[in-house]
Amino acid sequence: MVDASKPPLRILTCGSVDDGKSTLLGRLLYDSSHVFADQLYVAQAESKRYGTQGSELDLALLIDGLQAEREQQITIDVAYRYFSTPNRSFIVADTPGHEQYTCNMGTGASNADLAVLLIDARHGIVAQTRRHCCIIDLLAIKHLVVAVNKMDLIRWDQNRFKAIETDFRNYAVDLSFTDIECIPMSALSGANVFVQAQEADWYAGPTLIHVLESLNVEKETDDRPFRLPIQFINRPSANFRGYSGTVTSGTLRVGDQVGSSLTGQAAKVTAIYDTDEEVLAVSSGHAVTIQLDHQIDISRGDILAPTHDVPSVSNQFAAKLIWLSEDAMLPQRQYLMKIGCLTTSCRVLELEYVINVETLTHEARHQLNLNDIAYIKLATTRPIAFDSYQTDRHLGSFVLIDRISYQTVGAGMIDFSLRRAANVTWQAYQIDKARRGAELRQKPCIVWLTGLSAAGKTTIAGRVEELLVQRGHHCYVLDGDNLRLGLNRDLGFTAADRVENIKRVAEVAKLFIDAGLIAIVSLISPYRNERRMARELVEADEFIEVYVNTSLPICEQRDPKGLYKKARAGELANFTGIDAPYEEPENPEIVLNTETHSVEELAKEVLDFLRRNHYLQATISATHSIQADQSKHDRSDT
Ligand code: ADX
Repeated sequence: MVDASKPPLRILTCGSVDDGKSTLLGRLLYDSSHVFADQLYVAQAESKRYGTQGSELDLALLIDGLQAEREQQITIDVAYRYFSTPNRSFIVADTPGHEQYTCNMGTGASNADLAVLLIDARHGIVAQTRRHCCIIDLLAIKHLVVAVNKMDLIRWDQNRFKAIETDFRNYAVDLSFTDIECIPMSALSGANVFVQAQEADWYAGPTLIHVLESLNVEKETDDRPFRLPIQFINRPSANFRGYSGTVTSGTLRVGDQVGSSLTGQAAKVTAIYDTDEEVLAVSSGHAVTIQLDHQIDISRGDILAPTHDVPSVSNQFAAKLIWLSEDAMLPQRQYLMKIGCLTTSCRVLELEYVINVETLTHEARHQLNLNDIAYIKLATTRPIAFDSYQTDRHLGSFVLIDRISYQTVGAGMIDFSLRRAANVTWQAYQIDKARRGAELRQKPCIVWLTGLSAAGKTTIAGRVEELLVQRGHHCYVLDGDNLRLGLNRDLGFTAADRVENIKRVAEVAKLFIDAGLIAIVSLISPYRNERRMARELVEADEFIEVYVNTSLPICEQRDPKGLYKKARAGELANFTGIDAPYEEPENPEIVLNTETHSVEELAKEVLDFLRRNHYLQATISATHSIQADQSKHDRSDT
C-alpha cells in the first residue's frame, strides 16, 4: 500500500529534445502498471506501424499518444502524470518544452521537489542540458538526478559514462543543488529505471526508482508561517465580510491574531470557511474565506499573516529574471508585474548581469533577449508584500507582462528587497501646481510632439512657444537635440538608451507641470510604451499627445541635417524609420499633417486645442506684442 500520509514526490523532467524523455516517462508508467489497457492497445498497434522498435512496444508512442489527447485541451498547459509504487506516489510535471516550464515556474505550477535531467549518452552535455540545469537551479529545486540515457547505444561504456558524469559535476559545481545523482540507464530496456542493469556490473549506484522512493524532501509549506494571499473581499450581504484566497503555507486557527502585510492592521480570526464548510483550522492548499472580529484595511494582493511574522513589504527588489519574449527587455521600460494576486506596474532599474549558461559566468548587457537569464534590480509602482523565492516559491515568484500586447514576457524570482528608497517621500510644498497655474493664468500641461526625425516637430514647437509667449503664457520647449547636449549627453540611440531618454524627458516635463508651466516636448519618442508611460506620469488631462505626421519619404526628402542620407549609406546606425522602428500613436489628442498644412496653421491648431480645452485663460498684458488678428481671435474666444 502507498503511504497515504506521505505527500507525493513532485518530479520535473527535462533535457534536450531527443534525449528520451517520452520513453522514460512511458517506462515509469508502464513498469509501475499505470497504463490503461486501451492506451496500451493503441500504443502497441501504433508501435507496429510507426514505432522505432520493430514489433516491440515503443514507449515513447505511449506518451505521445497521451500528449495528443492533452493537446486538444488547450487550456491546460502542463500535463501531470501520476504513478505509484508500493512505497510512494509520484507526480511528474510533463512540460514539453523549455518555454512551458519557465512559465510554469512563475505561476507556481512547477513546485517540483526533484528534477530528472536527461542526457543522451552518445552526445553528452549539450547547450540545452546546461540551459535546463541552470533553470532548475534558478527554480531552487535542490535535488537532481542526471539520467545518462541510451547507454545501450554505447554498449554500456563505463568510461564514457564517467566522462559525462565528471563533465557535469564540473559544470554544476557553482550551482546550489544539495545532491546530484548520476545514473547510467536505458529507458528503452528499463535498465536502471526499476531494475538494476545487468549490463553494467561496474555501476554500484541506485536505480532511478530507488532514488525517487528514498528521497527525503523537506516539506517547506507546513513548517512555514501562515500565509493567505488575498484574492477578493467576500461581501455577499451587508452583515458578512470575509477575506478569501488560497492558503500557501502554514496553519490558521480560529482565535489566531492575523494582520495585513501592507497596512500592519491586525484582528482576531472569528470564523474559517473551507469552501462552504465552517472549520476550526485550515492548512496550506485550501481555498478559504475567513472572518475577523473587526474590519481592517486589506485588499486584493495583500497577504494575511500572523502578526508576529508578516512577509516583507517593499517597492524595490533584487531578482532573477528569465526572459521569454522575442521582444527585448529594455531597462527603464514599464511592464506589468503579476505577483500572487497583485498586478502593478514596474520597471527594471538595472540589468546587473546575464548568466552565460555555458560557462555560468556573468556578462554585462544593455538588454535581454529571448531565453536570457539575468540578475536585475526592479522597482514596482506599488509596494508589494512578498517572501523571497528561496524561502517561499509561491510568494517570491512573479511574471512580467507587456503593457501593450498583454503577453507574458518574463518570469522572475525575488531575491531580496532593496532598502534604498524606503525613507524617501514626496514633499508637498505650500505652493502647489494649481496655485502656480492660477498665478500664471494657465492650466499647466505637457504638449508632447512625437514623429520621425525631420517631421517638423521642432519648428512647430518653436512656433507654438512663440504664440503662447506672445499671449503672456509661460512655457518652455524641451527639445530632444538640446537635452542630448546636456542632461542626456550620456545616451545614444539604442532602444535601451531611447527608453531612458524618453523617461528622463517625461520626468522633467512633469516637474515643469509642477512649476505651473506648459511643457512643450519635441522628441521622436518612437515607442508607444514609453509615450504611454509619460502620459501616466501625470494627471489624465495634463498630457496632450501631438502626432506630427509626416511620411518617411517626405522626411527623407527634407533631410535638413543630412542624417537620412548618412543612415542610408550605412554611416549612421539605429536611425528611426530606416533601421530603427517608429510606432505611430494610436489615440493622439492632435494629429498634425505637415504635408498639407503650413507651420503657422499647425501651430494655431495646437493653440486652438489648448484654448478650447481651457488650458489658457485671458492673460494678455499690454507689454506683450500681439499680432492684431490673433488678439481679436483671443478676445472673441475668452
Ligand atoms: S528619441 O528617439 O530618443 O526620442 P530624440 O528626439 O531625443 O530621439 O533625438 C532625435 C535627434 O537626434 C534627431 O533629431 C536627430 O537630429 C538626432 N539623431 C542622431 N542620431 C539619430 C538616430 N540614430 N536616430 C534618430 N535621431 C538621431
